Amino acid sequence: MQPEPILRVRGLKTEFQSAAGVVRAVDGLDLDIFPGEIVGVVGESGSGKSAMAFSILRLTPGKIVAGEVQFRGRNLLDLSEAEMERLRGDRIAMIFQDPMTSLNPLMRIGSQIGEALRYHMGLSRRQADGTAVQLLQSVHLPDAERRIHDYPHQLSGGQRQRVVIAMGISCAPDLLIADEPTTALDVTIQAQILNLISETRQRSSAAVLLITHDLGVVAQLCDRVAVMYAGQVVEQGPTTDLFANPQHPYTIGLLRSTPHGRRRGEPLRPIPGQPPRPGDIATGCSFAPRCHLVEERCHHQAPALLQLGGGRQARCLLREESAHESTP
Ligand SMILES: Nc1ncnc2c1ncn2[C@@H]1O[C@H](COP(=O)(O)OP(=O)(O)OP(=O)(O)O)[C@@H](O)[C@H]1O
Ligand SMILES: [Mg+2]
Repeated sequence: MQPEPILRVRGLKTEFQSAAGVVRAVDGLDLDIFPGEIVGVVGESGSGKSAMAFSILRLTPGKIVAGEVQFRGRNLLDLSEAEMERLRGDRIAMIFQDPMTSLNPLMRIGSQIGEALRYHMGLSRRQADGTAVQLLQSVHLPDAERRIHDYPHQLSGGQRQRVVIAMGISCAPDLLIADEPTTALDVTIQAQILNLISETRQRSSAAVLLITHDLGVVAQLCDRVAVMYAGQVVEQGPTTDLFANPQHPYTIGLLRSTPHGRRRGEPLRPIPGQPPRPGDIATGCSFAPRCHLVEERCHHQAPALLQLGGGRQARCLLREESAHESTP
């Protein structure tokens, strides 16, 4: 039997007010994450990946206007701000693109990790210091005993991201959300940080939501992948199956347009056209204007996320013949 998802997002909608009007960055998003798995989220710039992550954590500057975010059976959107604060950095940890988002520049790194441990785990100052050193060693920060006395600016970018990961895993979270955790780092360090995320999952059996532009990283690291377009998940499934046999025309285009996804020997083919402008409201399928398989009905009828079997789902009218009864 399939286990219960640790995170179950349904119909999530998040809006921003901008000069051009209301921008719906997340537009009816459904996503499940099961215990201990790594789920990759991919999609073009502006497709709403970060807005989704921040909405799950209730840290978005936008307004969550609809939906549910069930985490271990509770809807996070119903919690008080105090309850939410206890959950962040405890049961749910976050790693962002720029490690300085999570670090206090005026505090020594040992104290920052220690503070989280004292707050969430009730450790004494002395216990917390000892645990901070162990954590920094576990993320392979060289010379950890000495480094705990450093301020963030005394570390390299890669070292700072290790500190953030150490803080993230300090309370053995059930879910780690990482938004482009290696984009700001150089290539050799990227691989080390990704290995660390993978190690973390093995050690603490935390589920990981990994947002990345890099399909190679997804292929290497993720059990499942969710493809986002215009604020929605348009396809999701086990990574190997999805890469071998993409079902949504957008996924097909995305794979053809990146070196990792295309078949050997094929040229790279960018997806023609542009993603919808922020604020555009589509009546039918939001990908229809760019779709190479588009039919007349696609412009009027919004597709549901169809269950295709084998844990695969796609939001495309053309897949209706192969779909099973949808189970929400
Ligand atoms: N604070 C904000 N105010 C207004 N609009 C915003 C804000 N944050 C995001 N948006 C809009 O929401 C949409 C989704 O943005 P988001 O940052 O989630 O994209 P993304 O998929 O993470 O892109 P990238 O791959 O470039 O990080 C975009 O149209 C963006 O302009
Ligand atoms: Mg982003």
